[in-house]
Amino acid sequence: MKFLKPLSTLGLSLVAISAFPWGQKGHDVTAYIAENHLTPETYAQVTELLDGKSMVYWANWLDNASHSPEYSYSKTWHYKNIDDGVKYEEAPLHPDGDIVRAIYSQVEILQNSDASKTDKQLALKILVHLMGDLHQPMHMGHASDLGGNRWTVKYFGRDSNLHSVWDSSIPESAHKWTYTEWNDQINRATPVETQYILESGKPESWGIETFEICKDVYAKTPEGTKISYDYVSEWTPVVESQLLKGGLRLADILNSIFDPDYQQYNVFVAN
Ligand code: ADE
Ligand code: ZN
Repeated sequence: MKFLKPLSTLGLSLVAISAFPWGQKGHDVTAYIAENHLTPETYAQVTELLDGKSMVYWANWLDNASHSPEYSYSKTWHYKNIDDGVKYEEAPLHPDGDIVRAIYSQVEILQNSDASKTDKQLALKILVHLMGDLHQPMHMGHASDLGGNRWTVKYFGRDSNLHSVWDSSIPESAHKWTYTEWNDQINRATPVETQYILESGKPESWGIETFEICKDVYAKTPEGTKISYDYVSEWTPVVESQLLKGGLRLADILNSIFDPDYQQYNVFVAN
C-alpha cells in the first residue's frame, strides 16, 4: 500500500492506492509454487539467469520498481481494467499497456535467442510478478474505481477498500502461514486438477477467468459492506486456488521456454 498524491491541492485528504495485487505474501507464494514445479533443466537456467537468486527473491520487486523513474513505464502493466457492464474483449486498451500484453512481451524476450542476459533477467523478474497479479481478482477491476482502490468497505470495523482487502487482508486473515507453509498446504493439485488448470491456457483465458471472479466479488461486496468472518470464510478457497493457478501456470510457461523436453500444456508459448 502506498500513499499517492493528495486529492486536493491543499493535501487535506489522502487516497491510499494500491497498485499491487496480492500483498507480498501472495507473490512469494506464487513464485515458490512455480519454483517447485520447474524441471531440473528449467530450474538450472532460471537460477543462472537470476545470478543464483530465486524467483521468490524477485517476486515483489516490480511493485517498488514501477514507482522509480527507470521502470515507470511498467506502472499500468500490473492490471487490466474492465468497467462495469463492459465485456472483457471490448474493454478499451490502455495506451501504456496492461498486464496481459505485458506478459506476452516478457515471454517474447525470454524466447528471443538474440536478447541479452540483462534483458532476459528483467523479463523474468517482471513475468514472475505479473503472473501473480494476473490472478488477483481486483486487477481486472473497474477503471472508474481504480480496481477497487476507491470502493470503500469496512474490514472488521476499520475503513478499507476492496482492492486492499483482496491484496492482503483476506489472505492474511485466512491463514497465518509463511510462504513455504502456504506451498505445503495448497500445492497439492492432482494430475487431473493440474491438467485442468493448465490445459489450453493463455494469458487472455486466464485474464477472463480472473475477470469473472472479479465481477462476482463486486456483486457480492457492495460499497460500504461490513466485511467480517463470513466473507473471509467464503472467499478463502478462491484465494487459495488463484495462488495455486498462478504458480502452476508460471511454471508451465517457464518450462516450455527453457526445457526442450517439457510437454507444455499452455497454448501460447511455441516450443
Ligand atoms: N492499481 C492502481 N490503479 C489500478 C487500477 N486502475 N486497476 C487495478 N489496480 C490498480
Ligand atoms: Zn503488482
